[in-house]
Amino acid sequence: MADLRVTLCGKELKNPVIPASGTFGFGREFNEIYDISVLGGVCTKGLTLERRAGNPVPRIAESRGVILNAVGLQNPGVEAFIAEDLEWLKSKTRVFANVAGSTLEDYAEICGKLDGLVDFIELNISCPNVKCGGMAFGIKPETIKAVTRAAKSSLKQTPLIVKLSPNVESIPLNARAAEEGGADCLSLVNTFTGMAIDIERRKPIIANNTGGVSGAGIKPIAVRMVYEAAHAVEIPVIGMGGITRAEDAIEFLLAGATAVQVGTQNFTDTLACPKIIEGLNAWCDSHGVNKLSCLTGKLELN
Ligand SMILES: Cc1cc2nc3c(=O)[nH]c(=O)nc-3n(C[C@H](O)[C@H](O)[C@H](O)COP(=O)(O)O)c2cc1C
Repeated sequence: MADLRVTLCGKELKNPVIPASGTFGFGREFNEIYDISVLGGVCTKGLTLERRAGNPVPRIAESRGVILNAVGLQNPGVEAFIAEDLEWLKSKTRVFANVAGSTLEDYAEICGKLDGLVDFIELNISCPNVKCGGMAFGIKPETIKAVTRAAKSSLKQTPLIVKLSPNVESIPLNARAAEEGGADCLSLVNTFTGMAIDIERRKPIIANNTGGVSGAGIKPIAVRMVYEAAHAVEIPVIGMGGITRAEDAIEFLLAGATAVQVGTQNFTDTLACPKIIEGLNAWCDSHGVNKLSCLTGKLELN
């Protein structure tokens, strides 16, 4: 059995596998299928100050190798999460609270409510599916730095992860802007803006017209972006985008990620995360790797 533990911002995770925001709820439904305490952590659905009903349906469309979604940050609000789900989730594993806002003040207020209560805060500044739902902050280095600073100003205890958008001009510039704003860690990628059309109706399939593209098909682009981010900053990076099996997770580690998140694959296979954890163990054993964390950043370019 290899040592799968990783350390992120001074906190130990039992392994680097974390279900991604928006694909795992708060873990309760999955915990009926397997004990989610096997996970390195759980990242919550994006939390806003007030509860949100989300966008009109249809919100999800399938395409080859990917899905599109425009859920629109449906969530019960940060206070309901704290009151109803947080203690239970903390008893299971590390809690990554994904937060979203429409203004700098929103981000600061939500972070203030969660500080010291959760293990990590992940700032969603990159959701493509909500008007003013963070995306506006996630595109340019100046606004990324400003929203990171605003969030950081409310945090005394909990490390801050800034989740970068792939729908941008320069990943290295944006990664450095988040680091300069005070981020303790980066995560990427969020979804790519896309459109799928019902050719009989001549209309977009999802009600929002456009949606965020995720799933197996985005993996090579995500790996490249994680590589670019990891080489632009000193802080750790969490990689995600299209991970479906242990070997995919290892690609992200070699590209420079300390931990990984698994999103869309949770819909395809509810046991995806525990299978990836078992697969990492098997891969390490068959490759003589005693400590998985030794692989981080070990890519050798041609
Ligand atoms: C249905 C759905 C909902 C999502 N909701 C959120 C969210 O609330 N906050 C966020 O930061 N990312 C959200 N994401 C993005 C994922 O966390 C992840 O960044 C993206 O899907 C890429 O990973 P994957 O290819 O493994 O799914 C969502 C993705 C999907 C598919």
